[in-house]
Amino acid sequence: MNQQITTPLVELEDISIAFGGIRAVDGASIDLYPGEVVGLLGHNGAGKSTLIKILSGAYKRDSGEIRIDGQDATINNPRDAKAYGIETIYQTLAVADNVDAAANLFLGRELTTALGTLDDVAMEAKAREVMGRLNPNFRRFKEPVKALSGGQRQSVAIARAILFNARILIMDEPTAALGPQETAQVGDLIKQLKSEGIGIFLISHDIHDVFDLADRVCVMKNGQVVGTAKTSDVTKDEVLGMIIMGKCPPGATPGPGAMRI
Ligand SMILES: Nc1ncnc2c1ncn2[C@@H]1O[C@H](COP(=O)(O)OP(=O)(O)OP(=O)(O)O)[C@@H](O)[C@H]1O
Ligand SMILES: [Mg+2]
Repeated sequence: MNQQITTPLVELEDISIAFGGIRAVDGASIDLYPGEVVGLLGHNGAGKSTLIKILSGAYKRDSGEIRIDGQDATINNPRDAKAYGIETIYQTLAVADNVDAAANLFLGRELTTALGTLDDVAMEAKAREVMGRLNPNFRRFKEPVKALSGGQRQSVAIARAILFNARILIMDEPTAALGPQETAQVGDLIKQLKSEGIGIFLISHDIHDVFDLADRVCVMKNGQVVGTAKTSDVTKDEVLGMIIMGKCPPGATPGPGAMRI
């Protein structure tokens, strides 16, 4: 991928938001290219979730610009964000336990026949197609989602997000509730989505996961970006130094939050 000649999918520029006196996000800039995973790291309260909630329309920024495909984007609520193909997957596996995968995928956006009845055949066919793309081994279409493993449930949540052509996926701690095997499964899903050109912001506390999956890392501290780097240009120790001390290593581009020496 040549980043020089590709327009970024997302550009967040100089984004700020305060709650009361707290600058939760303070002049943060970050971008994301098609087929790229950008890992967002930082301590509790660093501003990671708040920044991506501005992109997903959950919070309205006080200042800053959002561009999608190089064009100014108006994102004031979640509906605006969805119209730009932005979908979010949270740690809390937001699936309906008592119904099957197809019903989950179409929850609130059910397909209907010409007669106005639920088109179960079309929904199941589409569910098989999307789930097959993400997780070819998945066979448990007829079972309620509560019978599935955590990793399978997360693949249902991801399928739901991409069903309506998500191009930008935000994953906020997608594996925090999962065991090692299921975490690996979500890693495979992320690689699959990447290969389809979807851009992913991956928030995680697990620096090892981020190093395995992310093309670039961005570290935040006290609402500010400490620095951004290609994952291959920095070591885990250097990234820990960014997280803990705000120290920006030579391989990273410093942001406003980098410690001044
Ligand atoms: N709705 C809100 N009202 C008031 N303060 C908020 C709100 N949302 C976030 N904050 C504050 O903004 C700061 C950034 O929080 P945020 O949740 O973005 O951090 P985070 O990096 O996602 O942390 P974690 O790793 O714990 O998820 C914190 O000080 C938090 O208390
Ligand atoms: Mg958070």
